[in-house]
Amino acid sequence: MSESMIIATTLEELRQARSLLDNPLGLVPTMGYLHKGHISLVERARVECASVGVSIFVNPTQFGPNEDLNKYPRNIEGDLKLLEAAGADLVWMPTPEIVYPPGFQTWVEVEGLTSPLEGAMRPGHFRGVTTVVAKLFNAFQPQKAYFGQKDAQQAAVIRRMTRDLDFPIEITICPTLREADGLAMSSRNTYLNPQERQAATVLFRALSAAKAAHQAGERDADKLRQAMSEIILAEPLAKMQYISCADYDSLEELRTVSGKALLSMAVYLGKTRLIDNFVIGE
Ligand code: PAF
Repeated sequence: MSESMIIATTLEELRQARSLLDNPLGLVPTMGYLHKGHISLVERARVECASVGVSIFVNPTQFGPNEDLNKYPRNIEGDLKLLEAAGADLVWMPTPEIVYPPGFQTWVEVEGLTSPLEGAMRPGHFRGVTTVVAKLFNAFQPQKAYFGQKDAQQAAVIRRMTRDLDFPIEITICPTLREADGLAMSSRNTYLNPQERQAATVLFRALSAAKAAHQAGERDADKLRQAMSEIILAEPLAKMQYISCADYDSLEELRTVSGKALLSMAVYLGKTRLIDNFVIGE
C-alpha cells in the first residue's frame, strides 16, 4: 500500500502512477457516487492484492438516449474520502474525451449473452460496458478485477469478454449489499422519493418469495416467475419491466429449474428503474 492515494486524470498520469505500484493490482471499476457496495469491492481487493486501483467514470456509451446520463448522481469529494479510508492506492478519473478521443471507432461486443434481459431492454448498453471495461483493463493492467453481483448479467458478460479476449485477469464477483429492509444498494436509489423508497422493497420481496417457493420444491419456472410478478403487481407504485428465471450460465429463460438459476427483474418506481437478482439452486 502506498503512503497516500494518487489521483490521475490523463492516461499518461495513470500509466506512470500504475507502473510504480506492486503486483498483483486489483481494479474496481465504478461510475462514482460510491456506496457501501462499492466499498466492499475495494475492501476485498485491499485484502487480496498488493495494490488497489479504482476508476470513477460515468461512461456515456453505456447510457441509452432516454436514460439518466445527464442526471447520474456525482459526489467526487465524498467518493475520494471513502476510497482513501478503504485503502485505495490509485484513482483514475478521466474525462469522456480522454476515454473517447475524437475519431474513436473501435468497440468490444459480446454477442449471445447480451441478447436477453438488460440487453433486450437497453440496446447498446453492454457494448458500452465491455468497451470501457476493456479500455480500463488495458489502462490499469490489473491482475484481478472486482464487480458486484447486483449487475448479474454485466458480471457474466465481463467474464465472457475476459475469457474470449484472453485478458490475463481474474474476475471476482462480490455479493450484493442490501439496506436493512432488503433493498439492494445502488447509486440510483438516491432518485427515489420517500414513498417510492418504501415501495422499492418490492424487488427483494418478490425475489424472496420465488426463492422460498424454490426451496419448498417448486421447479416450474413459470410458477416462480408468477410468484414474483404477483408481488410486483400488488405494489401500486411499481411497474414491472421484466421478470426472469433463467439458466445461470446461458441466461436463457427456463421451463424447469434443475440446477443453478438466476432470478432477476427490472422494475420502475416512478421514473427510476431498479434491477435486482437472486441466484438459486447453488
Ligand atoms: O457497474 C458499473 O458501475 C459500470 O457498468 C462499470 C462496470 C463501471 C462500467 O462503466
